[in-house]
Amino acid sequence: MTSDDAPTPSITQIYRDRSVTFDRLVAEDDAMTEVVRQAERAARSDASVLIVGETGTGKTLLAQAIHNTSPRAAKPFVAANCAAFAESLLESELFGHEKGAFTGAERVKKGVFELADGGTLFLDEIGELSKNAQAKILRAVEYKEFERLGGEETLRSDIRILFATNRDLAEAVRNDEFREDLFYRVNEFKVEIPPLRQRKRDILPLALRYLQECNATFGYHLTGFTPEAERALLSFDWPGNARRLRSIVKRACALADGDVLTVEDLDLTAPSVRAPTKAPEASAGAPENLEDWSLATVERRHIERVLEHTKGNKSEAARVLGIARTTLDRKIATYGIDA
Ligand SMILES: Nc1ncnc2c1ncn2[C@@H]1O[C@H](COP(=O)(O)OP(=O)(O)OP(=O)(O)O)[C@@H](O)[C@H]1O
Ligand SMILES: [Mg+2]
Repeated sequence: MTSDDAPTPSITQIYRDRSVTFDRLVAEDDAMTEVVRQAERAARSDASVLIVGETGTGKTLLAQAIHNTSPRAAKPFVAANCAAFAESLLESELFGHEKGAFTGAERVKKGVFELADGGTLFLDEIGELSKNAQAKILRAVEYKEFERLGGEETLRSDIRILFATNRDLAEAVRNDEFREDLFYRVNEFKVEIPPLRQRKRDILPLALRYLQECNATFGYHLTGFTPEAERALLSFDWPGNARRLRSIVKRACALADGDVLTVEDLDLTAPSVRAPTKAPEASAGAPENLEDWSLATVERRHIERVLEHTKGNKSEAARVLGIARTTLDRKIATYGIDA
């Protein structure tokens, strides 16, 4: 995985690549050109923007493009993944802390609101913040004012805030999981990226883009796809969206024998992306298909079960599985689980 392919950053990440602009986005389908048009308009203003879309649809890429096209482009772009904040460290991650604010606070630390001063703060997975955290963030989002933990002085940051989520925040408000007052601050200007299966005209241009990327990186001389491979790409459902497409094309490029990628090279039916099968219990007798005993299949099935149990609540599922929320997201995208 290259750095720009990572799902959401672990906690805080400062992106410095100013070359990521709207030109970097493949947008052939009308649904996507409209998204880019809206985002370009938003980029010129200083308004907050909420980017909504399934995992791998390009939310982080779009946020970078907005920042790099905005008057703040020369200033920092700080991305913070709200889902990765441990509740106990939340305030210090967001607002920083003074020396001695708590045991172990050996020096002053700036939080993301302060680090982004002059530039853009990207609050990713905003829908995963606890109610308690939502209350803490409200004032800083609204007035860009906050205090470092253990500090007296009120600090003011000159920032533009971008938000992203894969949740329906309006529904979260109705379910009393998201504060209504924060919702209105976050939802000022919403840009919704449709899933790849709803913008089919982007599929082949994206696939070709990734093939060319492989040619450039590894010195391959691949020229394209067979008609059958193109049809398979077009009819695939694309859980995991552009990220999944990219990893499938990259793997195919590495495996291909000829100059053209075939449907076999793409291997869209590989266990990791196949529709759920009846994976056996670990204690059951041998399955009909031994592939069903692969760790990948069992892991996928297990994650699906836990998600079923938590009614699709991913934070809860990650807790049950004992893995980080970001790790779970990655596995969901990799296995193409319909969460
Ligand atoms: N329109 C696009 N054109 C070109 N590449 C794209 C496009 N959309 C997404 N990608 C690529 O797909 C991958 C995933 O994109 P990105 O990380 O921005 O998705 P995301 O919506 O932020 O995912 P997550 O919800 O997991 O954080 C990246 O490698 C990105 O460069
Ligand atoms: Mg992202």
